[in-house]
Amino acid sequence: MSNTDFYLRRLHSISGIAPIGVFLLEHIFTISTVIAGPGVFDAAVAKLAAIPHALLLTLEICFIAIPLLFHGIYGAYIAMQAKNNVSDYGYLRNRQFWLQRMSAWYTFVYLIWHVGYLRIVVKGGGTPISYAFLHDYLSNPIVFVLYAIGLVAAIYHFTNGLFTFCITWGIAVGPRAQGIVNKAAWGLFVVLSGVGLFALTHYIA
Ligand code: HEM
Repeated sequence: MSNTDFYLRRLHSISGIAPIGVFLLEHIFTISTVIAGPGVFDAAVAKLAAIPHALLLTLEICFIAIPLLFHGIYGAYIAMQAKNNVSDYGYLRNRQFWLQRMSAWYTFVYLIWHVGYLRIVVKGGGTPISYAFLHDYLSNPIVFVLYAIGLVAAIYHFTNGLFTFCITWGIAVGPRAQGIVNKAAWGLFVVLSGVGLFALTHYIA
């Protein structure tokens, strides 16, 4: 691996945690405000909309769009190169490695659709995002199911990514530490997916 590859891999790894992972957590939090009622969700959206447009757009471009484009495009390049059965790691780890790749591909396609339609076409076209809009949109069962899979795929990719991040950066070194971090990552996956899916059902209630 050349020096440039090494640094690009490290940059790819850290970008998955911050800013992208941090944004994912904030996003799950925002969409989950609907659990407290449609009005609470609309108020959370209004709070974000109160940020001056130029500032919000700059933040979106610098902290979401550019890191995500880098992570997604370089990630697709890594995923096309990697061998999909690293047999030294045992059955569960191999499955996780495979799921990390599969969730990356689904998330990749899902985000083009999700961001392309809701952020660029709808919001960019001047229609504010609201509970009423999402209620209509997600009431289509095909859209709902594809969104539910997209949510779980992105969360799995992030939480398993937290685990592999801890290995990549030498935070979890021995088998015991790696076992603990892996369990914690699975726990986080269950909690975030549970909350996220529960929230999603509120949009069609
Ligand atoms: C919701 C958006 C995303 C988040 C929060 C996210 C987060 C992460 C995290 C935290 C890691 C772990 C880094 C490490 O192991 O050191 C990771 C790895 C990875 N991501 Fe993403 N990611 C996202 C989207 C994508 C997309 C769209 C792709 C493109 C196909 C992708 C491809 C990859 C690949 C291939 C790896 C493994 C890298 C390796 O094995 O070294 N990710 N991601």
